Amino acid sequence: MRIAMIGTGYVGLVSGACFADFGHEVTCVDKDAGKIAALHKGEIPIFEPGLDVLVAANVKARRLSFTTDLKTPVADADAVFIAVGTPSRRGDGHADLTYVYAAAREIASALSGFTVVVTKSTVPVGTGDEVERIIHEANPSADVVVASNPEFLREGAAIRDFKFPDRIVVGTDDERGRKVLGDVYRPLSLNQAPLMFTKRRTAELIKYAANAFLATKITFINEMADLSEKVGADVQEVARGIGLDNRIGTKFLHAGPGFGGSCFPKDTRALIKIAQDYDVQLRIVEAVLGVNDNRKRAMARKVSNAVGASLRGKTVAVLGLTFKPDTDDMREAPSIPLVTGLLDMGAKVRAHDPVGMEHAKKELPEIEYCGDPYECALGADVVVIVTEWTQFRALDLLRLKREMAGCMFIDLRNIYNPLEVEYFGFTYRGVGRGATAVTEGHPRGTNVPDVGLVQAGSE
Ligand SMILES: NC(=O)c1ccc[n+]([C@@H]2O[C@H](COP(=O)([O-])OP(=O)(O)OC[C@H]3O[C@@H](n4cnc5c(N)ncnc54)[C@H](O)[C@@H]3O)[C@@H](O)[C@H]2O)c1
Repeated sequence: MRIAMIGTGYVGLVSGACFADFGHEVTCVDKDAGKIAALHKGEIPIFEPGLDVLVAANVKARRLSFTTDLKTPVADADAVFIAVGTPSRRGDGHADLTYVYAAAREIASALSGFTVVVTKSTVPVGTGDEVERIIHEANPSADVVVASNPEFLREGAAIRDFKFPDRIVVGTDDERGRKVLGDVYRPLSLNQAPLMFTKRRTAELIKYAANAFLATKITFINEMADLSEKVGADVQEVARGIGLDNRIGTKFLHAGPGFGGSCFPKDTRALIKIAQDYDVQLRIVEAVLGVNDNRKRAMARKVSNAVGASLRGKTVAVLGLTFKPDTDDMREAPSIPLVTGLLDMGAKVRAHDPVGMEHAKKELPEIEYCGDPYECALGADVVVIVTEWTQFRALDLLRLKREMAGCMFIDLRNIYNPLEVEYFGFTYRGVGRGATAVTEGHPRGTNVPDVGLVQAGSE
């Protein structure tokens, strides 16, 4: 199959490279000339594990190419995927469809022969109808089917998610459209990935419903964490105790500083707006969004409460800035309200992140960036783990303590055994771990106590 991928960001580049790896001929298009120039030089504009190798192999095999001009790839394509951004619209939180509609107009004038135009971007219900209208208005003779194919990959595990998806959702009633997309995804049938055909509007809603449900799960366990702290329970064990029930499941039940990232916040906001447009109130999703926003803001207070005194003049070492590990994405990261809150309280903030510091500097220019966790801890009164990078799971606690001026260790991801940390002279604070509910066992045992739980807070 010949595929044109419009938009070469996290989703477009990963999807394009994976489609090429399936054997299809893929051209990735982007308006950002700098991004395309970098890709021509073999540089990957985003951090995603394994993507450099996958892109290089498929470019070498001549199945993957890059351009800023969509005319030829669209004219030649069997399927054109729209994978441009759909950020929150300023002011009202609706999905901003400017990029999607602009792409549809450009695609319309370049179409030639039967083509399936597929929306991969996360778009409100009914967007497919509007894309179809735009294309027919701009090019009345176009022989086109507009389908929806929402993407469920998670940054940091994107290639695996794309190649071994839990399901593939394709929204179109049109037989020709189903045939083309069936052929595009045929290589995945070897992995027994269920290909689910639905109406276009159903597919569009599935994506939002999935993200809203996952965001609800995270927010639920975060509230249980707050309660656990008050009643002296351990939320890790609560999560395990409920998650082992198959109807609930263990994933996305890891308490933390609140969800962030490029999808959950904007998609829950957009879903609420979509429902409002149809006169439906989604009270659960509204509560999730409100609780999560408050939680992210409350994390700075959690630090000051742990210190028990004013943070003015204190130094806080922040480990991890990206919204989750294995990505450089800072969009709506919990670190942003945390650091801003700490600065507002008069603290001095030093931070380290394995790959996110360049992006973080744009969001948080007024803090000091450090080359590693120990440099970051130098002279600090408090260390706060914000993102659970693997690099932070086995810190040399003796060395860390020696670098610090104080002894407060705040683990917003619960990746350490409290007793192990306290053994080195720290005062430990996790999330939802009541004082009487410290994990049992040898203090210097594992520092990843809850191996049965899959880390969550990710998309
Ligand atoms: N990032 C994720 O983890 C993820 C997962 C699932 C779904 N999604 C959805 O996928 C969509 C894309 O997200 P992303 O994170 O890849 O965004 P992104 O911002 O990383 O990439 C979008 C790209 O589209 C380009 N672009 C915009 N208009 C264009 C046009 N007319 N022609 C060519 N290129 C154009 C931009 O320059 C940018 O490079 C969004 O709707 C998002 O909600 C994202």
